[in-house]
Amino acid sequence: MIPAIPDLEVENIVTEQNITALIVGCGIIGKHHGVVLTRHPSFTVTAVTDPDPAMVESASAAIVGAGGAAPATYSSVAEALEARVADLVVICTPSGLHVEQALAALEYDVHLVIEKPLSVSVAQGRELIDAAERATSQGRCVTVISQHRFDPATVAVREAIEGGSFGQLTSAAAVMSMYRSQQYYDQGAWRGTWALDGGGAAMNQGVHTVDLLRSFLGRPEEISAYTAQLGHERIEIEDLATATIRFESGALATVLCTTAGYPGLPVRVHVHGLRGSAVIDDSRLEFFHAGDPESGQAPNQAAERVEVGELRSSPPAEDFFVTGHLRQYDDIADAITNKRPPVVTVNEALLSLALVRAIYLSATLGAPVRFDDVLDGKFDESAEAAVAAIGGAI
Ligand SMILES: NC(=O)c1ccc[n+]([C@@H]2O[C@H](COP(=O)([O-])OP(=O)(O)OC[C@H]3O[C@@H](n4cnc5c(N)ncnc54)[C@H](O)[C@@H]3O)[C@@H](O)[C@H]2O)c1
Repeated sequence: MIPAIPDLEVENIVTEQNITALIVGCGIIGKHHGVVLTRHPSFTVTAVTDPDPAMVESASAAIVGAGGAAPATYSSVAEALEARVADLVVICTPSGLHVEQALAALEYDVHLVIEKPLSVSVAQGRELIDAAERATSQGRCVTVISQHRFDPATVAVREAIEGGSFGQLTSAAAVMSMYRSQQYYDQGAWRGTWALDGGGAAMNQGVHTVDLLRSFLGRPEEISAYTAQLGHERIEIEDLATATIRFESGALATVLCTTAGYPGLPVRVHVHGLRGSAVIDDSRLEFFHAGDPESGQAPNQAAERVEVGELRSSPPAEDFFVTGHLRQYDDIADAITNKRPPVVTVNEALLSLALVRAIYLSATLGAPVRFDDVLDGKFDESAEAAVAAIGGAI
């Protein structure tokens, strides 16, 4: 049975379009996109590709199970692109393949969605900037998935920050404590490698949280971090990272990302300002207060800011993972229809990728690093050994 689409702001959905989609990579998230796109009124999945026939088959079955028609299937990306069966290409392969496949797709006249993270290195991510800008100037949409940007709790906090309701932001703290078994890393050969995963807890799982922090606090200035591998073996990357980030505004933030925190807890983000603070926990609003300290307003105004289902005190929506991507696809459908930039541009995603790479570089050097130096690749030659230890070119 196909579950109903929960709690969407239907007035924002563009229904007059039928945007056809090709899914590249039919693993966990590729199948998920197949279901999400099939449920979204603006999209139809017309093709899928994966070198593994079993994955192609199970993605097709997931699409049909969600109410769609069986898509055309291809065993190679080149063949699928050459067939020109879709307006939109959705890249859901291991992270180290994203840029190469995105560049290949942009050779065709298509819109492009890339799963997070943009890439495994800033150097690779930067390669996409020109091609993405060219496509954008031709009215095409090029975007990177960061579905938590669209959670109603996130939107409420960002609007409060942008509207000045919290006054000057002074600090933030994010804890992303998950558990991933040894089996999780052993199962996929690409997982836990610098070349294809691009990092561990901070990159694969934590980039969502790092992206939220950055979207709340603005441009980072300096990063100081530690990483460790304490709960897993046979992986190249960290399962624990802690960092302090100083932002250009002067605000300070701490972030902890781990996949060695059994049994795993909901992601929690605090944001604090001189006139207000908020707490997002498990993607829902736990606490919100904005206003004059003397005004005597209710301490927790969260219920005034989001629907009841988006409060931390409510149970999570049954299908919250699908809903998250559906919300971002609302933005993508609208961006395609109205030829406007999507919320998460390649440039935006590159900044979050650079922030994660800065965490790795600082931890490896044992010293703070400046964000702009990481973004500009300044360490590639000046700190070759440290850069090599985190998978090569920053
Ligand atoms: N936004 C999210 O919440 C979220 C969640 C999970 C994963 N992801 C991202 O999605 C990506 C994939 O993760 P996953 O968990 O689905 O991995 P996965 O291992 O389950 O699936 C990857 C798929 O890509 C296929 N593949 C490999 N090489 C390919 C190629 N050259 N062409 C086409 N297909 C190829 C594999 O056969 C496999 O089926 C990663 O970048 C990951 O970070 C995002």
